Formats: sequence, structure tokens, C-alpha cells
Amino acid sequence: MAAPRRIVLLLLLLFSVVAVVSNAEETFDVRRHLSTATRYHIAKDISENSFVPSNVPDQCKPIHLNLLARHGTRAPTKKKLKELEALATRLKVLLENVKEQKSTVVPAWLRGWKSPWTGKHKGGELISEGENELYELGIRTREKFPELFSEDYHPDIYPIKATQISRASASAVAFGMGLFSNRGNLGPGRHRAFAVTSESRASDIMLRFHDCCQNYKAFRKSQEPSVDKLKEPVLNEISQELVTRWGLNFTGQDISSLWLLCKQEAALLNTTDQACALFTPSEVSLLEWTDDLEVFILKGYGNSLNYHMGVPLLEDIIQSMEQAIKAREDGLVPGSYELARLRFAHAETLLPFSCLIGLFLDGAEFEQILREQPLQLPPKPPQKRIWRASMVAPFAGNNMLVLYSCPANKSSKYYVQVLHNERPISIPGCGNSDFCPLEVFKEKIAAPHLKHNYHALCSIESDQSEQVAPISKFWQILSWIFPADATQSQKAEL
Ligand SMILES: *[C@@H]1O[C@H](CO)[C@@H](O)[C@H](O)[C@H]1NC(C)=O
Ligand SMILES: *[C@@H]1O[C@H](CO)[C@@H](O)[C@H](O)[C@H]1NC(C)=O
Ligand SMILES: *[C@@H]1O[C@H](CO)[C@@H](O)[C@H](O)[C@H]1NC(C)=O
Repeated sequence: MAAPRRIVLLLLLLFSVVAVVSNAEETFDVRRHLSTATRYHIAKDISENSFVPSNVPDQCKPIHLNLLARHGTRAPTKKKLKELEALATRLKVLLENVKEQKSTVVPAWLRGWKSPWTGKHKGGELISEGENELYELGIRTREKFPELFSEDYHPDIYPIKATQISRASASAVAFGMGLFSNRGNLGPGRHRAFAVTSESRASDIMLRFHDCCQNYKAFRKSQEPSVDKLKEPVLNEISQELVTRWGLNFTGQDISSLWLLCKQEAALLNTTDQACALFTPSEVSLLEWTDDLEVFILKGYGNSLNYHMGVPLLEDIIQSMEQAIKAREDGLVPGSYELARLRFAHAETLLPFSCLIGLFLDGAEFEQILREQPLQLPPKPPQKRIWRASMVAPFAGNNMLVLYSCPANKSSKYYVQVLHNERPISIPGCGNSDFCPLEVFKEKIAAPHLKHNYHALCSIESDQSEQVAPISKFWQILSWIFPADATQSQKAEL
């Protein structure tokens, strides 16, 4: 009796060892490592941290929602289309060079390769997959917050804002079609019309603040060479590996273009056995890291201007919460005040905003940010890092700030819950909870940033960061003396 049992145990043990090994191999899915080109349904399933969300007490009810979403999956932009055309030409030359050699290691798809987007002249538009991401998000949002989405549509109750860039406004439309499906009279889907409003691109300091901020543009331009320098050794190192592996004389630039191709193929065509298969998992991890570094330096915690210029958006969000509270406390009837403010924009909006509310930091780093000290760059793999653009800002990535009313709570009547990609997320500025008393959210997280002034940060005269503070004071005084006037002239400037 004992012997067979031991064999069974042994077999079980063996089996589980095999399972663990094959599991480790299987779990590397390149589609999870595409930085900001990661698809939403994949990013949503990445759950590396074992964060346990708060139990929201029954007495707490959502009373208002702020959504900030990045546009969904888009076609390659014109610049990327050009780079892929150039890659085709380059590959032809590389293959020509090895024609004489009887090399059999060259992957078959490389011979005569043409960009799948050849002949496409316009780029950057929301593609069908991207429409779907936002449409489904709209449906899920309504299901998740029935209290908030039971009212009839009115543009003042559910204002929908998008940037003037078509992939963002098309994303807003796709979301709205999901959110209000079966609520109208149009066609078999019983759709209804709704408004999407946009500021002019030249003055959209709420959703395209990076595009209106002269100092940011200058910073970005000045940093590009050093970002390239950071990537260079990694690209060169990988090019050496690939030269040996595939017998083609790849340069660092070729690696960069092949990585671009891998991301486009995997995200848009679900093809992972061509360009992506040129790289090993550890090479993909390194390439992903170089992208994440760039995003960190140019759009994230790498420079405080990156996120401080998002202050108008943060102000708008806090204000919308205060208005929602006031409307309720004034006893306005439901259907007469705003329940959700829905915004559709870009990685350049979502990344800085996530920084402004202090996501993806450990506790010590949050304190560093408050003291305006620069953070360390995200560490090189195989070291782990919190900052992964595939999670922070995938296609259709989003933050929701849900305002709750907890009337029976002695310490705070209102709470803010932060959902990132629809999941509750730890807020380091709020003791790593995801359910934060509104006052704490305002005082500990928002207030330190709100002392900055967009126009002072961004106008070209205040080039030196040392000058930012006095000029911001100056603006504050100005707008205090001439409240309406000052805002008018600031707008006109842009
Ligand atoms: C490979 O390319 C380098 C320049 O990138 C060049 O110096 C070298 O001669 C080339 N080697 C072959 C075998 O073509
Ligand atoms: C993408 O490819 C994977 C296999 O690599 C497959 O399991 C999945 O169903 C594909 N998805 C779509 C949408 O075709
Ligand atoms: C409610 O208030 C008590 C203290 O009065 C506190 O311990 C509790 O965590 C609060 N939170 C919620 C969400 O009700």
C-alpha cells in the first residue's frame, strides 16, 4: 500500500516541477511588454502586485465619477509608417549582403519583407480594436456604477470632453456608444446621440497641456539626445546578439526599428512570431525598459514639469468633486447636477496625471516628490520596477476617481477611490490605501502640486526653474488683483 502511494507522490512532485518550469516559459508573453503600445485587455490582466483593495462600507455610495482615459489602439502614426518603410529598404540591403553565404538561419519572413502598412499614407487614427476597447469600457463603467448612470442623458450631467485629435474624440464617441447603448432610439443598438466637446488644440491646457507649454517643449527637445544616449548601449548590445544569432549585420538603429515593428505587429496584428521572435524574452525586457525610461524622463516622474503642467486638470477634477458635494448638500434634485465628467486624451495626459496623484511610487518616493527631489531612474532588468508603461498607459488606459459619500462616518463624510485600468490601486500619498478621505486627498496629494501655476511653469520667460516660484507668486497676485482679467489674458496668450 505504502509503495504505490510513494510513487504517486513522486509522480505528483515530478509533474508539478515540470508544470512550474513550463509555466515560467509560457508566462512570457511579448504582448505584455510593449510599453505604451500594449493593448488594454492585456494590460488589464497584468497584476503583479498583490494589492488588496479596501472593502467599501455598504453605507458609502458613489456620487460622482471623474474619468481620464487614453485613446484606444491606433494605427501607426505617419512617422512610424515612414520608419517601417525605411526598415524594408534596410532589410533588403542586409539580405543582399549575405546572398552569397548559404545562411539558413535567416527567418523566412525577412526575405522580401514589406511593411504591412505599405501604401497607407495617413496614420494615427483609432482602429477597430481601439473602438472596441472604449466601447466595452463604456459598458463596464455603466454596469459598475449603476447609481451614477441611471439618469437620462444630459450634457451637463454627463459632460464628455476630448482633445481635438481625432483618435481621442473617436475614443470618446466609442465610449459614449457603449455607455448609452440601449438608452436611445437609433437603430437596432438603440443608440443615442450625445455631445463631445473639445477645446481648441492651441489652448487646451486641461487635456493637451504638453502641447501648450513652451517650457515643456523646450525641455523635451533638450532631453532627446540624452534619452538616445541612454538607449544606445542597450540597442548596441542587442544588435551584437542578433548579428550572431541571425547572421545579418544589424546596427543599433536596426534594432530600434525592429522593436518598433515588433510592437506594431503584436499590438495591431496579433503577430508575435515575426519581428518579436527575433528577440529573446530578456532582450524584449530590455527594450521595454528603454521605452519605459524614455516615458519616465519625458512624460513621467523624471522631471517635475512633466506633471506639474497637469495642474489645471487636477484643479478641474477637485472642483468637480466639490461641486458635486455642494449640489447634494444644497439638496438639489437628482438629474439637476453633474454625475460624471468623462475625458478622453493621450498618454501625454494620463501619464502626468498618474504622477500628479502619486501612483506607481513607493512610500519613500512619494515623500521625495513632495520635496521636489528627482527620483532614480527605473532600474534595469532583471531588477523589478514599479514604473511599467504597459501598465501605466496602455492603449485605452485610464484613471477613475470615484467620489463616495459615507454619511455615517464620523471622521470623513467623503472619500475618493482611485481605479487604475478599472482596478482599485494603492495611493502612496494616502497610506497606500485605495480609499482616501477627500480631505486627505486634497491636502496631502493635490495641494502640494496646486501651488504651482500653469502659466508660470510654461511661459518661456520663466526658463530657469528657480524663477518658477516668484513668477508663480506674481501671477497669483495678479490674478488676485484682476481675477477675471488675468485669466482672460492668460488664455489669449496661448
Ligand atoms: C557590418 O557593419 C559595420 C558598420 O555598421 C561595418 O563596419 C562592417 O564592415 C559590416 N560587416 C559586414 C560583414 O558587412
Ligand atoms: C492572438 O494570438 C494568440 C496566440 O498567439 C491567440 O491565442 C489569440 O486568440 C489571438 N487573439 C486574437 C484576437 O486573434
Ligand atoms: C469611518 O470612520 C472610522 C472612524 O470614525 C474609521 O476608522 C473608518 O476607517 C472610516 N472609513 C470608512 C470608509 O468608513
